[in-house]
Formats: sequence, structure tokens, C-alpha cells
Amino acid sequence: MSLAFRSGRRPILAGNWKMNLERKSALGLAAAVRERVGERDDVEVALFPPFVYLDEVARLLSGAKVKVGAQNCCDEASGAFTGEISAAMLVDVGCDWVILGHSERRHLYGEGDALVGAKVKAALVAGLKPIVCVGETLAEREGKSTEQVVSRQLSAALAGVSRLDLARLVVAYDPVGAIGTGKTATPDQAGEVHRYLRGVLGGLHDMEVAKSMRILYGGSVKPDNVRDLMQVADIDGCLVGGASLKSESFLPLLEFR
Ligand code: PGA
Repeated sequence: MSLAFRSGRRPILAGNWKMNLERKSALGLAAAVRERVGERDDVEVALFPPFVYLDEVARLLSGAKVKVGAQNCCDEASGAFTGEISAAMLVDVGCDWVILGHSERRHLYGEGDALVGAKVKAALVAGLKPIVCVGETLAEREGKSTEQVVSRQLSAALAGVSRLDLARLVVAYDPVGAIGTGKTATPDQAGEVHRYLRGVLGGLHDMEVAKSMRILYGGSVKPDNVRDLMQVADIDGCLVGGASLKSESFLPLLEFR
């Protein structure tokens, strides 16, 4: 049994498909994951397809243990926001989860801390469970400002979030240098930041709620490193990009124990 489970925090395996797959491969992959997860409830599995496939994937997974989420949402509830998707729309098509503040949104599309914070609130109001991503760039790590960066990102994203809502929220630590590069942070490096983040969460409210919250690691998670990462006391699951796109690389991640 992994440490994450002994801690009382149920591990999460989240597959972020990013802008990949098409209808047929998306549905095929979702069906394979549903089949493998079956009635297992020692791990929470969630898939994050592109917006246009959410409805169909959610239908396919209806009643299954595998849940569905979106990769982003708008901070506004409705109105003249061309190209945006509201949190309520995501709930309407069967989403439970939403990823917010992913580094690709922050760095490629200029999403700042304040916008991420507004999105977190919009998602919570609609009833979604946010996975809030934080993570330093390679230059920030080399400049020894990892703690400063992730604490600023986390505090801004969670400003004004009630203790009750915090319990619905998951944090993901995605060091930018590790995403899609094959350069996973070592379990020790990741564990150090996870421990630090739990302390930040404790400072925002109290250690009791911080200890109940799940903090995922993301960045080149693969079948050959998932076990070592999941052994680390403060790593409560993984946010997986590349390896979530094929059942051959995603399904083995379920055997992380
Ligand atoms: P990767 O992506 O697994 O492809 O590195 C991880 C992420 O974006 O969180």
C-alpha cells in the first residue's frame, strides 16, 4: 500500500490529454481505462479530453469509476466571451473536474495569478473540483526561487477560498522543466516541494485541512518512474500528459503500488 493511501488521502491518477487525439482514439482510450479501472476504488482516475470530446467521453464513462474533467474554463459565468467555455457548461456535459493554471496556460497564453484565482472561484461556484497547477520554470529553479514562485502562485489561486471549498480542491506541482521533456524531477526534489506546498496550504488555513488535501506531481510521469514518485510521503497522485495518450503507457500507471 502506498504512503499516500496510508495517509488517508486517496491517490489520484489524472490523464491530461492536452490538444491530442481525435474522436475515435479518445473514445477507445476512455473505454480501455474504464475497463481496467473497473470497480477499483483505491485510486481516483480522471481523464481530461479536449473540450469538444468531453460530452461523448463523459457519456461513455457515465456510471463508471473513471471521472471526466476539462483542461481549462472561463472565469466568467456567461456572456459575450467569444471562444470561452463556462464552468457551468462543463458541469452540464458531465465534468467533475477542471485543471486550472496549467503552466502551458500560464506561459503560452499569458494567464496570470489573478486570472487563475478567478477561474478557481468560478469552478467552485459551479460545483467543479479544480486541480490547481503551480510550478517554477527551469530558470526560476536555477535561480533558487522555486519556493517563492510556487507559494505566490498557490496563495493567489486560493485567495478567498473557504476551508470547506479547499477540501474539494487538489493541487498539482508541475515543474515546467519536467513537462514533456522526459526530465522528471527526482522523487526527493518533488517531495521537498510537495512538503513545502503542504506547509503553504496550512498557512492559508490550518494544518488539518492541509493534511487532508491531495498534492499531485506532474512532469514526465511514466510507467518506469511512477512507483518511486508515489512512494514519497507527500505525493498523492500524478498529473500525466504524454503517457496518458496511449493505453499501453497509461494503464500500467495504475499499478503504482
Ligand atoms: P507530461 O505533462 O507528462 O507530458 O510531462 C505533464 C503535465 O503537463 O502536467
